[in-house]
Amino acid sequence: MTGALRLGVNIDHVATIRNARGGDHPDPVKAALIAAQAGADGITAHLREDRRHIRDDDIAALTAQLTIPLNLEMAATEEMLEIALRHRPHAACIVPERREERTTEGGLDAAGQDNHLMPFIERLAGANIRVSLFIEPDPRQVDAAIRLKAPVVEFHTGRYAHLEGEARAAELRRIADAAALAAKNGIEPHAGHGLTFDNVQPIAAIPQIRELNIGHFLVGEAIFCGLEESVARMRRLMDETR
Ligand code: PXP
Repeated sequence: MTGALRLGVNIDHVATIRNARGGDHPDPVKAALIAAQAGADGITAHLREDRRHIRDDDIAALTAQLTIPLNLEMAATEEMLEIALRHRPHAACIVPERREERTTEGGLDAAGQDNHLMPFIERLAGANIRVSLFIEPDPRQVDAAIRLKAPVVEFHTGRYAHLEGEARAAELRRIADAAALAAKNGIEPHAGHGLTFDNVQPIAAIPQIRELNIGHFLVGEAIFCGLEESVARMRRLMDETR
């Protein structure tokens, strides 16, 4: 059976534009409220170690003002854990983070880092925060998520988004197989990274996937059609597949 597919709108790049001039416009919280009105089911924000886009005060304002769930993307560090425990977002997605990368370039190595990750997952879960691991669509990584008792995994769709033709079809099959393996083991599969109007539907059609997190394209497209329309159109494209 195909369940509902939620849309999480990532507002990081509204903050990127704001920070380019150092003021307070455009406001990521205002963007989040518009996204919610346009059909987003949740808001995602990545507080990076270098605070290049979202800042601590954005997380506080989002927590105070949002009426839909907040998904905090965070590296597995003591600093981020302390922030998550203070703000208690609905969900926390643990992502790998390297200072020099332009964006999150690959999934978390849950299989190689399980000792490091276990206490973070336990402490977040203990605070009733829904933990997700951002991983590659690889059975080894899903097995690690099962061992770590993560309730959710988010599959990195960056490779899928950048490939073409048969290579893209093969990557899509890898994502579908990984989603089926996760769901069979009681883990809720999500997906995200690099999704656009043109490539979202084959991912949205994978029946086990319950949430997509989409940011850069929606904020970029908002320049041409407005944020409300860009989110609403993504919502319609996703809904058509279910
Ligand atoms: N999901 C995760 C875990 C991410 O790190 C990102 C990028 O911050 C996204 C989804 C959204 O990716 P994009 O901005 O390419 O849509």
